[in-house]
Amino acid sequence: MEIREVAVVGLGTMGAGIAEVFARAGLRVVAIEADEAALSRGLSILDGSLGRAVSRGRLTSPEQDEIRGRITPAGGFGEAAGADLAIEVVPEQLEIKRRVFAELDRHCRPDAILATNTSSLSVTDIAAPTRHPGRVVGMHFFNPAPVMRLVEVVGTVLADDGVQAAAADLARRLGKTPVQVGDRAGFVANALLLPYLNHAVTLLETGFASRADIDAAATAGIGLPMGPLALLDLIGLDTSLSIMEVLREEFGGPRYTPAPLLRRLVAAGRTGRKSGRGLYQYADGKPVSPVVTDIANKGLTSPPATITLVGSGADLEGELGAAAAAAGISITPDPGQPSDLVIVAATPDASVLAAALAAGRPQDTVGLHAGGGRLAELVITRLTSPAAAVAAQALAGQLGLSVVLAPDRPGFLAGTLLYPHLADAVRMVQDGYASAADVDTAMTLGCGYPEGPLELLDQAGPERALAVLSAMYDAYGDPAFAPPPLLAEHAAAGLGFRG
Ligand SMILES: NC(=O)c1ccc[n+]([C@@H]2O[C@H](COP(=O)([O-])OP(=O)(O)OC[C@H]3O[C@@H](n4cnc5c(N)ncnc54)[C@H](O)[C@@H]3O)[C@@H](O)[C@H]2O)c1
Repeated sequence: MEIREVAVVGLGTMGAGIAEVFARAGLRVVAIEADEAALSRGLSILDGSLGRAVSRGRLTSPEQDEIRGRITPAGGFGEAAGADLAIEVVPEQLEIKRRVFAELDRHCRPDAILATNTSSLSVTDIAAPTRHPGRVVGMHFFNPAPVMRLVEVVGTVLADDGVQAAAADLARRLGKTPVQVGDRAGFVANALLLPYLNHAVTLLETGFASRADIDAAATAGIGLPMGPLALLDLIGLDTSLSIMEVLREEFGGPRYTPAPLLRRLVAAGRTGRKSGRGLYQYADGKPVSPVVTDIANKGLTSPPATITLVGSGADLEGELGAAAAAAGISITPDPGQPSDLVIVAATPDASVLAAALAAGRPQDTVGLHAGGGRLAELVITRLTSPAAAVAAQALAGQLGLSVVLAPDRPGFLAGTLLYPHLADAVRMVQDGYASAADVDTAMTLGCGYPEGPLELLDQAGPERALAVLSAMYDAYGDPAFAPPPLLAEHAAAGLGFRG
């Protein structure tokens, strides 16, 4: 069946965008809302978006008229009778969605596909009470729908053959990239993103690292477009908490348990940008507290003249060696020789303190881990003197490195955030829930990652990821850090995940 006409139910934030996407692709759209006022509000969102496209030169006025001409505001569900597919985009509450599906069930043709844009409810729960659950599918668009290319197309155990594939074909006709998955809470993108964001809140709450350092580790260190705490403020802490609750209900365990701080901030009304305050404070939609503090601006002006460089972080040895030499700092590899500072070129699966003790001058010793990008993680041990910590920060500032402070624990800061996140992605592949390519597509197109998690894992190397996760698991005993067997297999076989 070719899909020519669709009904869109609910023209709010997402529905207006979805209606626009359908009409732009040449489909006729019947727009259904709760009442007249909501309908005109929804149409004005849609008109605003088309108007902006015209003023930016992305659409001509005649095209705008044509697109608009394909959209018919409807007085009720009866007008969905001619639709080949109907999609509901009403608020995220099972009761409301079920009521809408009951109406669609009554009015749509029996062969019409019924889709839901739910982010976190079970598509099966929505489908089960309908008369033809086999034709119900999830089509999870991302915000803003006209811009974001990902659509997670969700099949259920009840779905008829071909329904999910038909919805995926339709997504392609809309210029989107579908990822076909089963009905599990959070699908791919939210199920991976939210536990990672929640983990960042735990690191803040437990004093593992500062707010600015956590976000800098993700951006400057991992290369993500936004730090997790800034992103939580953008998504909304309340929305994030409710997705975490759904994930916890489905999967259980510490990885899916909302951080107490997340709950408290929501309870306090600090929901993020929309309320002016979340993990950061905002004025006119912009953070008033700096998102990233630059160590070079902290007024530390006395870098050491000589340093001793020990340890096995080969990346750092080359980089730091060259940068220090260029800055006129002399380097010795012998901890027995006098120097102002001992730097352990650290690796995130080994203790800096052990290397500091072996070097014999633990009070003069810090760890430095150049984890890639512009970021250096400065690791202060239990025995590092304040003077050495300050000297190391000054040195890093002089070398133009962006520095975050990390405790001497496996993974340091960036790895503590990253590797459990990558392990979650591996588990999704291991479970047969999504292919490595689909996981990466979901995270790049849905969350703006420059590379997907499995691509990131291949870059780090499965062996290194396994070593860091094993060290984290040994240190904490937290099952969230247990290396997935599939990762161990890839590491042993020397195989990447993306070929
Ligand atoms: N906002 C996002 O970023 C986002 C992203 C992806 C998916 N979603 C999902 O999309 C759905 C809608 O979210 P939203 O943010 O657009 O919500 P919204 O509150 O902006 O819009 C919901 C719309 O549904 C209408 N509505 C309510 N009851 C109705 C009924 N009985 N019949 C017809 N219309 C009715 C409301 O008037 C409103 O315009 C939710 O399931 C949400 O989880 C949202």
